[in-house]
Amino acid sequence: MKPYEILLNDNKHWAARKKAEDPAFFERLLHVQSPEFLWIGCSDSRVPPDQITQTEPGEIFIHRNVANLVVNTDVNLMSVVDYAVNHLKIKHVVVCGHYGCGGIKAAMSNTDFNQVLNMWLRNIKDIYRIHRKELEAITDEESRVNRMVEINVKEQIFNLAKTAMIQRAWSNDQRPDLHGWVYDLHDGLIKPVIEMKAGADLDELYEFEGL
Ligand code: CO
Repeated sequence: MKPYEILLNDNKHWAARKKAEDPAFFERLLHVQSPEFLWIGCSDSRVPPDQITQTEPGEIFIHRNVANLVVNTDVNLMSVVDYAVNHLKIKHVVVCGHYGCGGIKAAMSNTDFNQVLNMWLRNIKDIYRIHRKELEAITDEESRVNRMVEINVKEQIFNLAKTAMIQRAWSNDQRPDLHGWVYDLHDGLIKPVIEMKAGADLDELYEFEGL
């Protein structure tokens, strides 16, 4: 069997098992999706959102990219946030990074990854520059990368709060709450690093008026 055929085969077994355990499983999910969570995570294959949170299909709306970035000119990500916030009316947004993230490490190096990846990683370099003093006081390289992973998650939470989309939902609906988490590959545990409840204070430079 070819590797991709194994996936298709495993899918058949999974579908059969789900149906055996719960005959109404697929029927229930067919007509409605009402997840409470939007998850913005790293594309890293070792950080599967539903497995590490033990959630079932229908529970989390998911977007993943390299190093879990919230870039406000990214039409893909912003469409996901728009749909999740304004149509699915989700209550919580989670940005989840992970220690040892390859995207963060790459951005902290001087390697030329060629056009497109360089463009993406520049967003991370800009965050590093703002926090350079704190980061460069950390002598151990692994610890420095891991601190940068935490700082990156915080900045992505701020990036969400800076959007009119989130601010409008905060003022109209008192949701969603924003949660910044970091997953540890060593023990499978998630560490919360920041929480911004709906309506939390932010730098007035980014506050929109008349929402
Ligand atoms: Co990563």
